[in-house]
Amino acid sequence: MPTLSPSRFSHVVLQSFDKSRLVEWYGHVFDAEVCYENPFIAFMRYDEEHHRFGFVQLPPIPPGRVEGLVPGLVHVAFAYDSIAGLLEQYGRMKDMGEKPVVAVNHGPTISLYYKDPDRNTLELFVDRFPTVEQCNEFMANEIFSSNPVGYDIDPDAMLSRLREGAPEEELLQYDEELGRSVNVEQLAQRHMGLMSS
Ligand SMILES: [Fe+2]
Repeated sequence: MPTLSPSRFSHVVLQSFDKSRLVEWYGHVFDAEVCYENPFIAFMRYDEEHHRFGFVQLPPIPPGRVEGLVPGLVHVAFAYDSIAGLLEQYGRMKDMGEKPVVAVNHGPTISLYYKDPDRNTLELFVDRFPTVEQCNEFMANEIFSSNPVGYDIDPDAMLSRLREGAPEEELLQYDEELGRSVNVEQLAQRHMGLMSS
C-alpha cells in the first residue's frame, strides 16, 4: 500500500493584477528563473522542481465595479511519488466524502485539486516524467504550447484500472489526440470557476 502522505511540497501559485512584478520580485528574492510564460500564467523555478511558483495574471476589473478578484493565493501543491500513491489517496479521500473539484492531466503532471474546509485550493499531483529534463522537454514542445492546460480525467476510472492491475506507465500516459481536441480557453475558464468558488 503506497503511503498516503505526499513525498514533497512542490509549489505555490499566486494571482496578481501585474504578474510581471511578482516574476521580478521572486526572481530577485529566490534567484528564480522563468521556465514557462504565456499572457495568463508564468512559472518559475530555482532548483530541480519543474516549478516552485506560478503567477496568474488577473483580468482588469471593469470600471465602476466595486468587488472584484483579489490578488493572493490560488493554490499550494504537494507531490506524490507514484500514480498509485495519488490514486489511493484519491480513493481514501473519496471514502471521507472529499472529491476533487478539478481532476486533470496537465501533461507535466496529473493533478487533483481539492478544497479544504476554508475553501483554500490544495493540489495533489504526480509527475508524469521521472526527470526534470524530460519534463522541461515536454513543456518546451508544441503539444504543451498549444495546450498548457491539458484535459479532464476520471480518477474513479483510473483507480479502477489501477486496482485491476493496469501498469503505472499506462495510467501516466498523456493522450495527445485528446489534448489537441479540447477547447483550451473554455477548459481554463471552467477550471478557474470551479477553483475560485
Ligand atoms: Fe499547481
